Amino acid sequence: MATSALKGRLEGKVAIITGGAAGIGEATVRLFTQNGGKVIIADIKDNEGQKLAESVSEWATYIHCDVSKEEDVRAAVDLAMQKHGQLDIMFNNAGKGDGHKSSVADYEMEQFEATMNVNVKGVMHGIKHAARVMIPNRKGCIISTASIAGMMGGIAPYAYTASKHAIIGLTKNGAAELGKYGIRVNCVSPSLIATGILMEFVGTEDKGAVEAWGTSVGNLKGVVLKAEDVAEAAMFLASDESRYVSGHNLLVDGGFTVVNHDWGLYRI
Ligand SMILES: NC(=O)c1ccc[n+]([C@@H]2O[C@H](COP(=O)([O-])OP(=O)(O)OC[C@H]3O[C@@H](n4cnc5c(N)ncnc54)[C@H](O)[C@@H]3O)[C@@H](O)[C@H]2O)c1
Repeated sequence: MATSALKGRLEGKVAIITGGAAGIGEATVRLFTQNGGKVIIADIKDNEGQKLAESVSEWATYIHCDVSKEEDVRAAVDLAMQKHGQLDIMFNNAGKGDGHKSSVADYEMEQFEATMNVNVKGVMHGIKHAARVMIPNRKGCIISTASIAGMMGGIAPYAYTASKHAIIGLTKNGAAELGKYGIRVNCVSPSLIATGILMEFVGTEDKGAVEAWGTSVGNLKGVVLKAEDVAEAAMFLASDESRYVSGHNLLVDGGFTVVNHDWGLYRI
């Protein structure tokens, strides 16, 4: 598994990672703490989040935080300020799938609302409350997890696609407004990874099968995309190595979204 060659890249920095109890968030918690970061894991999976916090670092703390509720996100940010006196990195990574698999004509609007509440409002809450404490410090870094489904249509259900497009829009607006305070706002857009959200959508617990499928439909061959690869992208955006990068959507998709898969020019 790839881990950063450089250690200590987040020494002295404080991060909140939403959806930090599993998948991409968990991999990022591990990488950030290995690099000296103090981390607040904000999730709704209390047992997993608590255990992870206890196992990774004395500087990791868990807080129950449903990102769709503004008060929960406010409390997570306030915890960072009370405990550490600063918030340097807000990683709005929590997300939920949208299980709809048939026509839009049958779409359950409750499903739409539930997905937007977590994926869009959750990210907006994170940007808002991170900005609240970062603006007076005139520095900070906000990262959100979008998706390849934020770049193109037809690869995910309606609410999920709309929500991930919206995250890229929120990222651009955040970068536009917050640049004058020295705050950078970026997002990461992964392709398929065999984590809980995708396994649930596909309807299997066979991680190997989901990874094989992800590789077969992907553009870049010979590499299986892992949660740790997205954590590395988040690490780059969180660290000083990217100090002039803002408003960027860092695709971790092996080139998938730049290829017209039906055209087939290079298939032979
Ligand atoms: N796995 C993929 O193929 C893939 C691809 C592109 C983007 N993403 C995005 O990556 C992000 C992380 O997902 P993952 O792949 O690690 O899946 P995952 O299911 O392993 O992790 C998602 C985490 O988010 C948490 N979460 C869900 N709803 C929440 C809420 N309301 N408040 C707080 N936490 C909540 C879950 O408890 C879980 O710990 C999501 O935004 C997802 O949309 C995933």
